Amino acid sequence: MSKLSSHFVCQSCGASFPKWAGKCEACGGWNCLVEEAASSGPPKGLNDAKNRAKSNRIEFVPLKSESEREIPRRLSHIGEFDRVVGGGLVSGSATLVGGDPGIGKSTLLLQVVCRLAALHKVAYISGEEAIDQVRLRAARLGLADAPCSLASETSVRDIVASVDTKDAPDILIIDSIQTMYVDTLDSAPGTVAQVRTSAQELIRIAKKRDISLIIVGHVTKDGTIAGPRVLEHMVDTVLYLEGDRGHQFRVLRGVKNRFGPTDEIGVFEMTDKGLLEVQNPSALFLADRRDDMSGAAVFAGLEGTRPVLVEIQALVAPASYGTPRRAVVGWDNGRLAMILAVLEARCGVGFGNNDVYLNVAGGLRITEPAADLAVAAALLSSLTGEPVPASCVAFGEIGLSGEVRRVSQPELRLKEAVKLGFTQSIMPSSDKARNASPTPMLRTTEIRQLSELLPLFQAEAQVRRA
Ligand code: TYD
Ligand code: MG
Repeated sequence: MSKLSSHFVCQSCGASFPKWAGKCEACGGWNCLVEEAASSGPPKGLNDAKNRAKSNRIEFVPLKSESEREIPRRLSHIGEFDRVVGGGLVSGSATLVGGDPGIGKSTLLLQVVCRLAALHKVAYISGEEAIDQVRLRAARLGLADAPCSLASETSVRDIVASVDTKDAPDILIIDSIQTMYVDTLDSAPGTVAQVRTSAQELIRIAKKRDISLIIVGHVTKDGTIAGPRVLEHMVDTVLYLEGDRGHQFRVLRGVKNRFGPTDEIGVFEMTDKGLLEVQNPSALFLADRRDDMSGAAVFAGLEGTRPVLVEIQALVAPASYGTPRRAVVGWDNGRLAMILAVLEARCGVGFGNNDVYLNVAGGLRITEPAADLAVAAALLSSLTGEPVPASCVAFGEIGLSGEVRRVSQPELRLKEAVKLGFTQSIMPSSDKARNASPTPMLRTTEIRQLSELLPLFQAEAQVRRA
C-alpha cells in the first residue's frame, strides 16, 4: 500500500482529513481545507549533531533601544480616526477596517486618505467601484482636488508589482480584500484561501516598503462570505466601523492595536457630505431625550479613554401569550437575562409574565458591565411607571448576589455628567479616599445592594409628588 503523500488540513480548526471536502467535518467551516504535504517518518531533532550546521545563530539585542526616537506617525487630522488608530498610522503597518456592507467604510477611508494626501503620497485601490464612481464620490465629499492616486484593480500580482518600487506610496488603501485575488490559487475571490493569501502578499510588501496599508473587509452577520476575521491575527490593527443603517451615527471601534490602546472609539455622523466627526458624542446621544418618561435611565459609560453618556430604554409590557419575549438592541442578551434573574431572586421583583424590551438609544452598542445598574434602573422604572429623575446618571456592575460592584474611572464618568448638566448620580459605594468628590455640583447616592435601588425610586417619587 502506498503511503499518503499529502493530507487536507482545515485552516480554521486544524483538523486533518485524507480527502478534500467543501466542509470541515470538525468545525463546520466551509472552504477551509487546504492540501498540505504529509511528513514521512518521525520528525528529526532540529538541533541534532547532523542538522546543527544548517542553523544560524540569532543575535539578541537589549530591549531598550539605543535611539530614543518615537515611532513616526502619519496623521490624517481627522481627530476621531487618529485617536482610534493610536495617534496616527504607523509606517510598515497593516490596518484592517471591517464592517457590514454599506456602513460607510469606503466613504471614511476616502476622506482619511484625501486628508493624508496633503503631506504624504497616497494611493487608493478599489476593487469594487469603477474609477468614475470613486471620482463621483470624492466630488460629493468635496475632495475632488486631493492629490490621491486612484486605481481600480483586483489582481494582487499587479498591485504588488506596481507598489514594490522605490517611490512606493506611503499609504495604500485596498477596498476591499474580498475582491482581491491571487492567480496562483484556483479558488474564487472572497474565499478564505484567497483572502488570506492576498492579505499575506500585501502585508509583506507593506512591511518591506514601509507602507501604511489599510485593508477593508466586509463582514456579514451569518458569515457566508469569508469574513475578515481570518485576517485579524495577521494585521497590526483591527478597527470595526459599526452602526445602524437607520441611524446617522457610526462608531469606529478599535479591537486590536499593536501600536496603541484598544477599546477607543471614534464617533462620526453620516451626512450628505460624508462622515463628520462628532466631538461631543454624549450630547448627540442624549439629544432626543424626554425627561418625564418612565423606563429610561442615563448610563455614564466609558469607551476607551473617553466618557460617553447614553440613554438606556426599557419597556416592560404584559406578555400576550406563551413564553414572554426578551429583545435587546445594543446590549448583551445574556446580561439582560442575568439582571432580570438577580432582580427577581434578590429584590423580589418579578418579570415572569412580562415581555421585556431593551434598547440603547442612538444605535450605540455597549459592552461594559458597568451598564448593569442603569439597565436595572430602566427596568424598574418601566415596571413601576416611576420615571428615573431626569438629572440622574447611573453606573455600576451587578453581581449574582445582588451586590453593586465598583467600576473603573468613576471620576471621569461623573465629570462628563456634570459637563452635560446632570446633578445626581447613582453609583457603587467607593472608598472615601478615592471619593474626594471631584465634582461638588453632583449629589451622589452610593448603593451597595441592588435591593436599595427600588426604595430609592419610591422615595424620589414621593418627594416629587409632595
Ligand atoms: P460606503 O462607504 O460605500 O459603504 P461601504 O464601503 O462600507 O460598503 O457607504 C455607503 C453608504 O453611505 C450609502 O448608503 C450612502 C451613504 N453615504 C452618505 O450618506 N453620504 C455620503 O456623502 C456618502 C459618500 C455616502
Ligand atoms: Mg465600499
